[in-house]
Amino acid sequence: MTTSAAFAMQPLLLPELFPPDLRHRLSLVTRTDERVIESFDGPLDVEILITGWGCPRIDADVLAAAPRLRAVVHAAGSVKGHLTAEVFDRGIAVSSAAEANARPVAEFTLAMLVLAAKQAIVKARAYSTRGWSGDPLPGVATPSEGGGLIGAVVGVIGASRVGRLVMERLRDHGAHILLSDPYISPAQAADLGARPVPLDDLCREAELVTVHAPALPETRGLLDERRLALLRDGAVLVNTARGSLIDTDALVRHCATGRIGAVLDVTDPEPLPFGHPLLALPNVLVTPHLSGARGRELRRLGEFAVAEVERLARGLPLRGAVRPADLDRIA
Ligand SMILES: NC(=O)c1ccc[n+]([C@@H]2O[C@H](COP(=O)([O-])OP(=O)(O)OC[C@H]3O[C@@H](n4cnc5c(N)ncnc54)[C@H](O)[C@@H]3O)[C@@H](O)[C@H]2O)c1
Repeated sequence: MTTSAAFAMQPLLLPELFPPDLRHRLSLVTRTDERVIESFDGPLDVEILITGWGCPRIDADVLAAAPRLRAVVHAAGSVKGHLTAEVFDRGIAVSSAAEANARPVAEFTLAMLVLAAKQAIVKARAYSTRGWSGDPLPGVATPSEGGGLIGAVVGVIGASRVGRLVMERLRDHGAHILLSDPYISPAQAADLGARPVPLDDLCREAELVTVHAPALPETRGLLDERRLALLRDGAVLVNTARGSLIDTDALVRHCATGRIGAVLDVTDPEPLPFGHPLLALPNVLVTPHLSGARGRELRRLGEFAVAEVERLARGLPLRGAVRPADLDRIA
């Protein structure tokens, strides 16, 4: 029996997430309403909601108007922004394409780690301001080797979906990986090719530190004044996770001395106000939260969601199932 579905997201995203071939695949397993829901008002007579960025919150009132709803398939990352506890309480199956969104973040992170390990950021700025010297900027420390990722000690905070993909790539580049994650056993860390260490030790030992833990109450300010002070001279901190994990004022202080550098795709606050010191420091590169899926990369999220709807139609388990018990440790 064919199921029925509706899209709920920013309508502009729909053609990029679900180009014609994916819409065709969907049509083989479900009748999908042509209208993209931007706000929930009135009855919602579908079994599956295919959601994306911009989906309004699905609360008790929305659920009361959707008696047949049995699955929410999210063609984006975290479901915490639009799903309420009532969705899980009613036993509605929830899936997220966070796994598909992790890939571009990991690719971007690796690119930034390669640049940082080559001292490319500070050297490019020295080149443009002081000419072809190859010397680091005065007062700006650089990692002792500057010889790329091979043999570099890289600290990974969080064996999350992104963190695991980053570790996979770091292994290929011959880096030594230190991992801090309270949910990972030593045996699991070994399987990931990493040495498990307490976070303080990671800060002391790593030449490069990359942040991949979720924003949770207990990870707010995880890298605070004290831990930033533990970082080695010349260490570079890469954050593609969430700005709240780093104390911004403390980071400004440590980067302003030139002792450490940073690559930040996410900040707190976000966006940074115009003229913020992090935007001007020569040893800090800030990008406007662009490492997740964009443009052509969005199709992967749509593909993931379509495969989930196909699994629902065949009665198979969801690959991106979000379990309520995991909510307090996932993004
Ligand atoms: N910049 C972007 O565009 C972008 C895009 C996607 C995700 N993100 C961010 O990247 C991060 C990872 O996303 P994900 O989907 O891979 O996360 P995820 O949901 O897979 O992460 C969950 C895992 O993080 C680990 N973890 C939890 N608490 C931890 C802690 N205190 N210390 C260390 N590890 C801890 C645990 O292993 C847990 O299972 C998140 O912060 C997410 O918001 C950013």
